[in-house]
Order: sequence, then C-alpha cells, then structure tokens
Amino acid sequence: METTNQALSLPRIGEKAPSFKAVTTQGEINFPEQYAGSWVILFSHPADFTPVCTSEFMTFASMEDQFAKANCKLVGLSVDGLYSHIAWLRTIKEKIEYKGMKNIEVKFPLIEDITMEVANKYGMMQPGESNTKAVRAVFIIDSKGIIRAIIYYPLSLGRNFDELYRALIAMQTADAFSIATPADWRPGDEVIVPTAGSCGVAKERMEKKQEDVHCYDWFFCTKKLDKEKVLSTILKK
Ligand code: BEZ
Repeated sequence: METTNQALSLPRIGEKAPSFKAVTTQGEINFPEQYAGSWVILFSHPADFTPVCTSEFMTFASMEDQFAKANCKLVGLSVDGLYSHIAWLRTIKEKIEYKGMKNIEVKFPLIEDITMEVANKYGMMQPGESNTKAVRAVFIIDSKGIIRAIIYYPLSLGRNFDELYRALIAMQTADAFSIATPADWRPGDEVIVPTAGSCGVAKERMEKKQEDVHCYDWFFCTKKLDKEKVLSTILKK
C-alpha cells in the first residue's frame, strides 16, 4: 500500500453534489441535475471483473425496484472504460449465478471514468488504499441535489445494501415527520422527537407526560411512529 499527501477533494454532507457530465452504460448523464426530484445513490467500485464488485452489483441490481419505490435511483462508477463495463455486465447477466441471483441485468447507469475526473471530484481515489482504483464510496443525495450521507469502504470489504436502504428510508422518514431515528432504527420502531429548545419546555414535557411521548431524560424522548404510516408516506404506491 502506497501513501501520498496528494490533496483530495472531499464533498461534504449538506453540500450540493458536485456537477459533472459523463458517459455511462445507459448513455450520457448530467449529474445531479437530471436527477432533480429523485433521491440518488452515487457509488463507486474498484474495478470491473472482480469478485467483491460482482457480488455487490448483483445485490444492488436485484434491489433496484425496491430503491425505485423509495424514489431513489442508482448510479455506479469505476475508472474502467465503457467497453469493459459492457462486457462485465453482460458476463454477470449471462454467466453468474450467486446466492440465488441469476440472469441479473444491471439497468442503472455505470459511469466510465478513465480520466478519474469524477472519482477525483468525489474523493473516491484514496491513494493510501490504491492509486489506480476507486474505493467503495457511497453518496446518498436527496431530491434537491444535496449530499445527505457519505460512506466509504476499503477495497476488500463488500457493502451491506440493506443498510443503505435502511439509511435512505430513515432519512426520508426524518424529513417527512421532523424526527430523528435512533440506533438500528427500522420502520415501526420508536423515533426520537426533537430535543426541547429550553429547560422550561423540557421540564414541561417531562412533567406533562404527553401520551405518545416517552422521555428517558430531558434530552432523550421518543414516540411511536406506525410502520404503515411511514411506509405509506415514503413509498410509491
Ligand atoms: C473485488 O471487487 O473483488 C476487489 C477489487 C479490487 C481489489 C480487491 C478486491
């Protein structure tokens, strides 16, 4: 592993997703502008025709409809060229059967980035890990083009796509109901109500014992939020 002190551009949570135009397996894209109104997960993988990436693409592609129901589109990227992408995705569809998944067609765009322009813009090249391959980066971007979550994994570690889905639904739920979600939250679990702004309000909340609110202490209050209410609000019919 080689390390350098080369300056890296790292977009941050709360910032507008950096714009770019790119060639993909589904034609040219204008990112993130053409995704306005949808959430989008932009993710990088180290290389085509590698095993961890293959397992990830099969898993993500098999969940594409699930993400689409949550108004979220997927966009992949590696620093390989378009013909490599096309050949790899064809091989996956025609030859690979893995964990019950077979005949998997990757319908979402996979960006070719041989110049590493996009990878550099998004801090996907991390020389301590590799000078020639993007790390496994994930950017969850909301319907207004704002970066809401960033996750980085090293080359050897395949991602957990259930967690990406959980994070997406949790952020959408937080937006829709003005709440926060506790550790390991899933729809149907209790949610965290905003901390009362002043001691007086907090004391009142503790003393009043609002029916649907449970306070562990003045700074930590939760309430029930029905699973059906969450899912019917977040998911497309
Ligand atoms: C993989 O996807 O299997 C992989 C890619 C690059 C380095 C190590 C593993």
